[in-house]
Amino acid sequence: DWTPDSFVEETVEAIQAKVGGDKVVLGLSGGVDSTVAAVLLNKAIGDNLYCIFVNNGLLRKNEFESVLKQYEGMGLNVKGVDASDRFLLALKGLEDPELKRKAIGNAFIEVFDDEAHKLEDVKWLAQGTIYPDVIESVSATGGPSATIKSHHNVGGLPDFMKLKIVEPLRAIFKDEVRRVGATLGIDPELLGRHPFPGPGLGIRILGDITAEKVRILQEVDAIFINGLKSWGLYDKVWQAGAMLLPVNSVGVMGDERTYEKCVALRAVESTDGMTADWVNLPYEFLQKTSNDIINKVKGVNRVVYDISSKPPATIEWE
Ligand code: XMP
Repeated sequence: DWTPDSFVEETVEAIQAKVGGDKVVLGLSGGVDSTVAAVLLNKAIGDNLYCIFVNNGLLRKNEFESVLKQYEGMGLNVKGVDASDRFLLALKGLEDPELKRKAIGNAFIEVFDDEAHKLEDVKWLAQGTIYPDVIESVSATGGPSATIKSHHNVGGLPDFMKLKIVEPLRAIFKDEVRRVGATLGIDPELLGRHPFPGPGLGIRILGDITAEKVRILQEVDAIFINGLKSWGLYDKVWQAGAMLLPVNSVGVMGDERTYEKCVALRAVESTDGMTADWVNLPYEFLQKTSNDIINKVKGVNRVVYDISSKPPATIEWE
């Protein structure tokens, strides 16, 4: 019978047998899969595991600092690399969603490759690939590892991709990953996090991306997500987030006319992200959240709620 304890025991032994005393590099995303993979590997080989956590500047508000601290607190040998400016530069002027994804994916590979180069004698690349990623030809859920996979035939392979691969979670499903994470003592809040796309807020800012738009969306998203948590709604939702629309609309503030941005809130129920229904959030919650956003976030004067199901509407707007 499969139990998380026996899985951990067997996997730790298998990792030790496979990589021996070699060094292993792993990209942490802040998500469940890469975190559980890292903690498993850390248990097996300790500081021979070198984790790299890249800030692409498109994470949630304060996420880079707080998650990095959390990783350090878990005893992981982790290096945080703030590459926000590099990503912003790579994205400058790009409006097309697929071009934006490519720019983000390529910038990630460059940063990761630079960092992996600084480590000597690394022999293995660890990834948080889970079983659904293995069976789906195109992974839609992963973080760094999915980004790498979808780009690994663009031009020459970066050096780190010539490494041997170790994927301790490739035979198990998401709910099992969470149970393994719990057995390993990982913070339940981290294990219960909503999925978050690898390109982050980059595909939730419709059209071109600027530092100012990122700041606005981070504020809006934080109010929405913190509100879901404090109303006890976060765990009832599979994924939630805010989109910054490329639309200005007229408003009034005091006796001034405003002409400012509109944001859309989206919350969905799903089991695997392939199909999804919008969540019937309480009107009182939506009312409070909308007021908070418009009163607190400079530059936003209108909030709408997305009531579209997938299919045909995707979860993300880009
Ligand atoms: P869609 O928008 O296709 O999203 O309904 C389904 C799930 O996949 C996530 N998603 C992505 N994840 N890179 C990722 O790592 C991407 O480019 C990407 N696009 C969408 C989305 O957040 C949802 O969970």
